[in-house]
Amino acid sequence: MLTTERLNPMQDGIAKALDVLRAGGLCAFPTETVYGLGADARNSDAVARIFAAKGRPQFNPLIVHVANLEIAERYGVFNGAAKQIAQAFWPGPLTLVVPLRENSGLSPLVTSGLDSVGIRIPGSELSHELLAAFDGPVAGPSANPSGKVSPTSADHVLAGLSGEIEAVLDGGPCEIGLESTIIGCIDAPTLLRPGGLPREAVEACLGAPLAEPAANGEITAPGQLSSHYAPNAPVRLNADKKRDGEIYVGFGPCEGSDLTLSASGDLHEAATNLFEILHQANAMEAEKIAFAPIPEHGLGQAINDRLRRAAAPRVKY
Ligand code: TXA
Ligand code: MG
Repeated sequence: MLTTERLNPMQDGIAKALDVLRAGGLCAFPTETVYGLGADARNSDAVARIFAAKGRPQFNPLIVHVANLEIAERYGVFNGAAKQIAQAFWPGPLTLVVPLRENSGLSPLVTSGLDSVGIRIPGSELSHELLAAFDGPVAGPSANPSGKVSPTSADHVLAGLSGEIEAVLDGGPCEIGLESTIIGCIDAPTLLRPGGLPREAVEACLGAPLAEPAANGEITAPGQLSSHYAPNAPVRLNADKKRDGEIYVGFGPCEGSDLTLSASGDLHEAATNLFEILHQANAMEAEKIAFAPIPEHGLGQAINDRLRRAAAPRVKY
């Protein structure tokens, strides 16, 4: 067991985080979406430790985080659409899956041996400082045990991974609170995972609708594993009312709710609160959780995606 150190978001905390990454260790770090579990993406021993710490199946590739587009192009090949979206939305809550560049130097574990790579330039200032100083690729899945609720605070990270990782850089709560939107840019731009950037924004930028992933049963974005983001208790969706024994999570004006995603019915606020509420339900040892209906537009799409997976029958990979 390691002793996981909580690092402050000042220069000395960042310097320690860099030391951990450069030494091939694991350091969780905040982005505007969720906390990532960082390791040097060129170092196979370090990357292997990410899979072990999370209990993550090796077939599920990791996102590579970088400070700017120039560094991103060392690892991926960006076609016209990919460049257009990258320029419009990076830094931000967006991951692009692009062809892997030859001799990229990335550990093959990062991409699970695929010939594509997921790349992201996160938007928070602290993540930018860390990545710019590191000047290289940081592999970073969400910093939670595989299949469990994603972390939006350093406390969430420690609750799941304390003793498994060297450090967590504590930047406070994440501003967006939902993972990045993943767009595949291999052929036609394809929505692989709804997330913190609404699809409507990407479609407006491209002037065309995004394609849907081919439904051939292949895992194109294994965040698409049916059960994911699971709290300990079973989850009921689109619940108009609380039933006996449930913790009822409201959205908008709702009578009798125990917790609320957003009392005013604001989707941004709901996105920010979603994972915190699932963590709270775990801490309260809820027996059952029910969620009020959430509208299916804007960030509502990503919220509903996470809720459906949280409610899905639990599968162990
Ligand atoms: O906001 C986020 O995206 C956060 C922060 C830390 O950046 N990261 C995150 O990572 O959510 P993770 O590992 O929890 O989810 C990444 C998803 C996985 O579903 C993975 O399958 C998919 O990205 N992915 C990564 N590389 C891919 C690739 N080459 N092809 C298809 N999917 C890929
Ligand atoms: Mg995740």
